[in-house]
Amino acid sequence: MKLLINGGCTLSGEIEVDASKNAFLPILASTVLLDGECCFTNYVNLTDLDCMREILGLLNIKSVLLGRELYIDTKHIENAKITHDLTQKVRASIFILGALLGRFRSAVIAYPGGCNIGARPIDIHIKSFKALGVRIVEKHGYIYCFGENLHSGEVFLDFPSVGATESLMMCGILLKGVTVIKNAAKEPEIVDLANFLNACGANVRGAGSDKIEIVGVESLHGVNYTVMPDRIVAGTYLLAVATCGGDVLVKNALAKHNESLLSFLKSACNLDVFSDRIRVKANKRPSSIEKIKTLPYPAFPTDLQPQMMVLQSISQGVCVLQENLFENRFGTAFELKKMGADITINSNLACIVGVEKLFGADVCVCDLRCGAALVIAGLKAEGYTSLSGVELIDRGYEAIEEKFAVLGAEIKRTEIE
Ligand code: EPZ
Repeated sequence: MKLLINGGCTLSGEIEVDASKNAFLPILASTVLLDGECCFTNYVNLTDLDCMREILGLLNIKSVLLGRELYIDTKHIENAKITHDLTQKVRASIFILGALLGRFRSAVIAYPGGCNIGARPIDIHIKSFKALGVRIVEKHGYIYCFGENLHSGEVFLDFPSVGATESLMMCGILLKGVTVIKNAAKEPEIVDLANFLNACGANVRGAGSDKIEIVGVESLHGVNYTVMPDRIVAGTYLLAVATCGGDVLVKNALAKHNESLLSFLKSACNLDVFSDRIRVKANKRPSSIEKIKTLPYPAFPTDLQPQMMVLQSISQGVCVLQENLFENRFGTAFELKKMGADITINSNLACIVGVEKLFGADVCVCDLRCGAALVIAGLKAEGYTSLSGVELIDRGYEAIEEKFAVLGAEIKRTEIE
């Protein structure tokens, strides 16, 4: 499947941001912990979420989608081995480990997959569960967790891992006593997970800070819930307008979740920032941002690094972009160079010398955010761009071509390989 783009257009109109993939994934995994029914009011059609629903189905958790409303019923839940075919598709499958241990005190899961942006080890997850008394055997590509001695306690994360923070939080929900996570990740998706669990009757305090306390409770009940908007999708739209030019109102975009990006963008375009929407206007070639580093929240997010690389590749001047989270997340640069970008990679530094124009080319999507970045590059470039590997974009963006077509882009999906 491919996307075909006829570039050189500016973007104008209004666009609404959907629910956050990276909040929905741990929240869906956490339904393992509850007895009863949930209704999520703002489901978004992403293949990663569909995959998580398949994993829940393995556990006999029913999920029915009616329009945008997703109904979850956990009344007949049964523990089961989470197999390789599913964990290979989505990295977030590893979150289910904490939920299964919290609910059943045992779990068997194949090693997770995900994007090819780096090794993505799970040593912090494993070390944390061992610190809470879990016996772990890793063999033949599976992780066998025995939680008969699982207990609450204090865990210090060697690195503020988002997934490890979320998985540990879920593990502590039904444990007697207080589980404390120190050096916890502070991403907004972690706050949304805590908000969902507390709405179900849990007692989680400090989410969003580097110290999270989980006071164990007996059980959780179901709830109706609306998942937070996707800050990375919102940032992608803002960077697309800053790159291509135009005037767009991005609705359901929480400025407080993108302060780092907005601080960079204010020199490149006009921003009208409201509490839940942002209007972005760009009508001239921006100046390069001299230095950008990706770091854990609230600093500039690694998930917007490829999209920012595109903006810098057409800006005036030189930008040094440092990727500190993942060791193999510069795949976009090699594709952008086919379109005329001037980028030199040295270890985790990308030196980007801005060029006046990009030119359409046949490019290949190497991971989810690379795909979003190449769509922006194709919209900006002169002439036609074809993107292969579009299924990787569908993991985290619902019908990306339709969203940009509404803003005036000439873009369409074709089944022709
Ligand atoms: C989450 O991945 C997101 N995915 C990623 O988004 C995001 O890039 C990442 O957090 C960082 O913000 C989901 O939420 C589903 P980490 P996660 O554990 O939890 C190292 C996207 O495009 N590490 O915070 O896997 C790891 O290698 C995706 O939506 C260990 O060394 O990220 C990386 O260098 C891509 N050992 C760093 O920590 C571990 O046990 C951050 O990883 C765990 C992580």
